[in-house]
Amino acid sequence: MKLAVVGTGYVGLVSGTCFAELGNTVICVDKIDEKVEMLKRGEIPIYEPGLKELVVSNQEKGRLTFSTDLAAAVAASDIILIAVGTPAAEDGSANMSYVYAVAEEIGEALDSSYKVVVNKSTVPVGTAEKVEEIIKEKNENAQVDVCSVPEFLREGSAVKDTFNPDRIVIGTSSKKAEEMLVALHKPLTEEIVVTDVRSSEMIKYASNAFLATKISFINEIANICDAYGADVKAVARGMGLDNRIGPKFLNAGLGYGGSCFPKDTKAIIHLAQSAGYTPELLQAVEGVNERQSFRIIEHVKGIFGTELIGLKACILGLAFKPETDDIRDAPALKIIDQLLEMGMAVKAYDPIAVENTKKVLGDRVEYGANVEETLEGTDVMILVTEWDEFVKLDPEMIKNKLNRAIVVDGRNVYEPKAMREAGFIYHGIGR
Ligand code: UDX
Repeated sequence: MKLAVVGTGYVGLVSGTCFAELGNTVICVDKIDEKVEMLKRGEIPIYEPGLKELVVSNQEKGRLTFSTDLAAAVAASDIILIAVGTPAAEDGSANMSYVYAVAEEIGEALDSSYKVVVNKSTVPVGTAEKVEEIIKEKNENAQVDVCSVPEFLREGSAVKDTFNPDRIVIGTSSKKAEEMLVALHKPLTEEIVVTDVRSSEMIKYASNAFLATKISFINEIANICDAYGADVKAVARGMGLDNRIGPKFLNAGLGYGGSCFPKDTKAIIHLAQSAGYTPELLQAVEGVNERQSFRIIEHVKGIFGTELIGLKACILGLAFKPETDDIRDAPALKIIDQLLEMGMAVKAYDPIAVENTKKVLGDRVEYGANVEETLEGTDVMILVTEWDEFVKLDPEMIKNKLNRAIVVDGRNVYEPKAMREAGFIYHGIGR
């Protein structure tokens, strides 16, 4: 099939490239000239394992091209995927201006041949209908069905997730569009749910909100465990073996970050409120998450008291999770801000997210070149992101580098008993 993908962010670039790998002809469009030029050279603006190889090989095979010319891409394609950003607006709603602007451009570019337009971006319920309206306002001859096929990929495993989805959700009431979209996705999985557009749009928000709920739930249990000396890891394991609960997304820690959960939870809350409904559970999920990263600060205060001037913290991990350089809504940023505000100095390290962090924090913190150098001469090690290289650190090395053997483990990657036996003052989250 011939596809145009508008927007070369995480969702657009990964899905466009993976559809090319499946044998489709794909034109990825972006309005940023330098980004398109970079991609043509095989340079990837984001860190995503396995993506570069696929971009390069599919360009070589002529199945994947990059362009700034949206009109030409639309004219050459049967299916047009919209994958531009929907960042959070001031009031928590999704900012839809990029999606609507693309809808206008698509409307202007269409002739009278039939096209399927697909919303891949996470969008409020009712968006597909609105996009169809915009296209038809611009072009009354447009033969178009606007559908919803939400994206569920995770950063850091986006390529793997795209090729091995748990399910594909297709929202459309058009038989013709359904046939084309089922044929496009069939090579990926047999689990294809076809439903109406509004339900499909809701599935995306509901899925993210449910996962966010699981995380806030286990974080709340962790905080209660802390008060009573129970171990949240043991609790999560004991709960997760119940098939109805499941073991995934029950890792207690510093709260969810990244480009999706915080934004999408806010957006579904806003969506509900706009309809006059108060989503109390989701508001609590957000509230627990807002507070969770400050557990670290409470531990630090518990150890040192409130007199923190002259002390230095070593922060390990800046990305919102491992295998990405993304620091959007990363707990590390909130924690660092608080530590600095309380008068502590901060030295930080991340395997790949330092450059992005420098753009936000500049020289308010010191950056180490590696773990050892970052630990050297600091008073407490705070583990914020569970990168594998941090999980595998030798406790003796940590002890030798720190001024005092104190570890605050925001992701519960070390064994409390072993750490305490090795002479550390050790605090996890809920254990
Ligand atoms: C998420 C969804 O998983 C994905 O389906 C959707 O398309 C986009 O949003 P992503 O943000 O890339 O993906 O990362 P994910 O692995 O889901 O983690 C999100 C956040 O939750 C991270 O900050 C992570 O540290 C946190 N998390 C996750 C926990 O704190 N505990 C867990 O058990 C799982």
